[in-house]
Amino acid sequence: MDVNALLKKMTLRQKIGQLTQYNAALFTDSEAAVTGPAKKLGLSPEDLKTVGSVLNFSGPAEMKRIQDEHLAADPCGIPMVFMMDVIHGYRTVYPIPLAMACSFDPELVRECARMAAREASASGVQVDFAPMVDYVKDARWGRIMESSGEEPLLAGIMGAAQVSGYRGEGIDRPDSMAACVKHFAAYGLAEAGRDYNQSDCSERELREHCLPAYKACLDARAKLVMPSFQSMNGVPSTVNPLLHRVLREEWGYDGVVISDYNAIGELKKHGVAEDEKQAAQLAFGHECDVEMCSAAYFHSLEELLAEGKVTEEQIDRAVLRVLRLKEELGLFEDPYHGADEERAQSLYLCGEHRALARRAAEEAAVLLKNDGLLPFDEGIKKIAVIGPFADEHGINGSWSCRGRDEDTVTVRQGLSRLLGEDRVIYAPGCEAAGGCEGLDKAEAAAKAAEAAVLCLGEPQGYSGEGNCRTDIRLPGMQSELARRVIAANPNTAVLIFSGRPLAIPEIDEIAPAIMQLWFPGTEGGNAAADLLFGRANPSGRLAMSFPRSVGQCPVYYDHTSTGRPHFTDRAEHRGYASDYIDCAVLPLYSFGHGLSYSEFIYEEMTLSSHELKSGGAIEVNVRIRNNGRAGSEVVQLYMRDIAASCTRPVQKLIAFEKVHFEAGGERTVTFRVTEEMLGFWNFDMQFVTEKGDFELMIGYADHFVLRDRFRYV
Ligand code: BGC
Repeated sequence: MDVNALLKKMTLRQKIGQLTQYNAALFTDSEAAVTGPAKKLGLSPEDLKTVGSVLNFSGPAEMKRIQDEHLAADPCGIPMVFMMDVIHGYRTVYPIPLAMACSFDPELVRECARMAAREASASGVQVDFAPMVDYVKDARWGRIMESSGEEPLLAGIMGAAQVSGYRGEGIDRPDSMAACVKHFAAYGLAEAGRDYNQSDCSERELREHCLPAYKACLDARAKLVMPSFQSMNGVPSTVNPLLHRVLREEWGYDGVVISDYNAIGELKKHGVAEDEKQAAQLAFGHECDVEMCSAAYFHSLEELLAEGKVTEEQIDRAVLRVLRLKEELGLFEDPYHGADEERAQSLYLCGEHRALARRAAEEAAVLLKNDGLLPFDEGIKKIAVIGPFADEHGINGSWSCRGRDEDTVTVRQGLSRLLGEDRVIYAPGCEAAGGCEGLDKAEAAAKAAEAAVLCLGEPQGYSGEGNCRTDIRLPGMQSELARRVIAANPNTAVLIFSGRPLAIPEIDEIAPAIMQLWFPGTEGGNAAADLLFGRANPSGRLAMSFPRSVGQCPVYYDHTSTGRPHFTDRAEHRGYASDYIDCAVLPLYSFGHGLSYSEFIYEEMTLSSHELKSGGAIEVNVRIRNNGRAGSEVVQLYMRDIAASCTRPVQKLIAFEKVHFEAGGERTVTFRVTEEMLGFWNFDMQFVTEKGDFELMIGYADHFVLRDRFRYV
């Protein structure tokens, strides 16, 4: 399709239509649309015929119907493009993105994204509003569950892996989707962890922490960008100069920018536009090409053009971006993009997809503590499975798209499948956030078994968009339940289900074993059983620090040095140091932490040179021996810049590799350190690497086992 020629044939109204996106509800039945939601938005039936894209439809049948009706009505015959949030699976749900990041396994993330793309594209999804790669460090913010955690390098790698998985062999293929990276920028820094709240962020913070992951996704060929809702340094992202300066000019991005849901409509409430018309002028002027779900463009662009406040060239440029996306997706040849009900049905929850979701849930789980209790022995006669999440199907997590709770395997079901139902005693104990009538029964169940699995956490609705908390402890009576169950049976392993790091110091104090399962998705219960009994060996590492209390938030590993550092990792206040009177400074579990049933012994780190010359590289070899069963270790390389013109992080992850070891196996892992990995944004906001000494550390944040130094000359 010659999109330039097509553009020439389009009327202004048709062009504006391409710059809008509405919910499928508006196209559901023409009568309802005219009288209902479309009328509310002030859209005429004629406007609806020109709309360029649709979000949130129910599946292939609805998508095809809307597309058919549209093509029959649109005089230009331009297919609509169908978009949706496929965040961690479509029908087969794998763990939430924060959990997937804990796998430290980009290939697994890519495979899961491919699986999501297969199911979603067969269901009519052509563009995915993912990956979300917002930099996050405040566990109160509900949307951290959608992110890849507090490390920008990791977030970029995981984001790019998702883009590549969605894309597959190319976005025109029937089993692929185009990715929309979001939310540009600094959305995750919403003050006080309250969603939609402003973020105030220095340029250094932006450049070092927030921007790199979006850039990594664009380099991986994400096709769209979505600005965030909140105002960033005083200006809502939808109309923030950053869009033009960084995205368009600095990065040369010429793809579609699509607003977030009603974000243009909300500019008035933000207090930056007097009315809808000004909102349209501002958003369009900042090259936000497509308006999602409000109607400022429909109502005002024509008038703004007549008044010379926007130009025809601007409109054409935005429309061309949309048409080019449609062309790249191959929609002019196949407006269904291969969507097919039968194919979709054959893919949903198929054996291959369930197996992958199970492996993902196993790799994403993080063994936080183990005093030798785990793994359990399969010869066990009776095991008690206790707690509000023991038989809970609602462990898919927020944004689980078309996943259904009833398809999800609970821990009780997983254990019953592994051991046989007669060996599993079940007692809920208490509700996740309410009643506690079952405590006595739970205690009795724990006593009657050789071991217990206590399933605690926060309901899945406690995280996700708009779901923030000021208290990030276990809700309700769960801590009391833990106290009673563990006292009744010291062989109790605790499983935690949550969309954020919870503050669980009281559980850490009394439980002999704790495993963080996050929201593990469809195969959660099977994965839990495999992990508890050693059929799977835990290999997840934390992508986010676990605070001891909400008062530590934001707590994150790569904070900069201070002139008065804290002295100890205990709650020991020395005065005039950067610490607390009432709490230790270090998190309860640091970034990169995670145990295994294997024992990995770090024997030696050797450097190919102790001098790094400009343009050169140093090879870092780390020899590791596995003293136990087969398993995987995430080998993490950190650095510290000893002295620079700006205060630098006390520790910074610069490379990692997840490595599989056979029982008793030995490996040497090699990293290449280049000057770029040492660089930072100086006071004048130039990216520089300054000469001097650097320390390299192996282990995980706050806990290093090998160190060496070199000089950058
Ligand atoms: C969210 C976006 C999402 C959009 C469309 C908004 O509320 O912030 O992340 O892509 O809705 O569903």
